[in-house]
Amino acid sequence: MTAAAIVAAAGRGERLGARVPKALVEVCGAPLVVHAVTVMRSAGCDDVIVAAPPESVEEFARLVPGASVIAGGATRQASVAAALQMLPADVDVVLVHDAARGLAPATVAETVIAAVRAGADAVVPVLPLADTVKEVDSAGWVRRTLDRAALRAVQTPQGFRRLVLERAHQSATSGNSLDDASLVEALGLTVRTVPGDPAALKITTRADLLTVAALVGERVG
Ligand code: CTP
Ligand code: MG
Repeated sequence: MTAAAIVAAAGRGERLGARVPKALVEVCGAPLVVHAVTVMRSAGCDDVIVAAPPESVEEFARLVPGASVIAGGATRQASVAAALQMLPADVDVVLVHDAARGLAPATVAETVIAAVRAGADAVVPVLPLADTVKEVDSAGWVRRTLDRAALRAVQTPQGFRRLVLERAHQSATSGNSLDDASLVEALGLTVRTVPGDPAALKITTRADLLTVAALVGERVG
């Protein structure tokens, strides 16, 4: 089985508010997209396809030589769907990773690939929640408290059998799903969980940059 990776890196990073697209922001000595591609390669993905902001394709391609850089879409789902079109024919396991989680350890990616190879259609790395989660209505009233013991926060890289991921994207009913595994769930297929890692947190705000640098500073150097 040959594994390839899709790196979703076409977002603007509006909540981070940097002058450049979020995937170009440097953390621990390199832009997030470079970290993300490096981690995918360390986990054994020789083919890496990066979805970049359309106006930045050439700049991204210079930063990640050897990866295929394509123009992403208006939503994350559209960016992943565009990258799926570029997968080489012999690939049968696909990781989908957020550049915004570029400092995820390679061990998580390896565990995800191993679980797909062991027979899962789809695999997501997860962490338990620290906070209690409540469902609220649009007016701000609490509807109910969810059972935290049964809840998990979902990270990337997520892993898929190639045909499953392709079918999930082809069957998607809306264009702005934020999570590939949920498209697989919508097909009625099962999704396996494996342990995630705090360092795979999604960099959304400036505070997250400080957190991830503190978490992985020693590892990346
Ligand atoms: N992404 C993408 N294509 C889009 C939107 C998002 O490939 N049209 C990617 C981002 O580059 C990121 C991942 O999806 O790696 C998760 O998205 P998010 O954290 O929301 O990143 P941004 O959309 O860039 O940030 P913001 O929502 O604050 O603008
Ligand atoms: Mg976004």
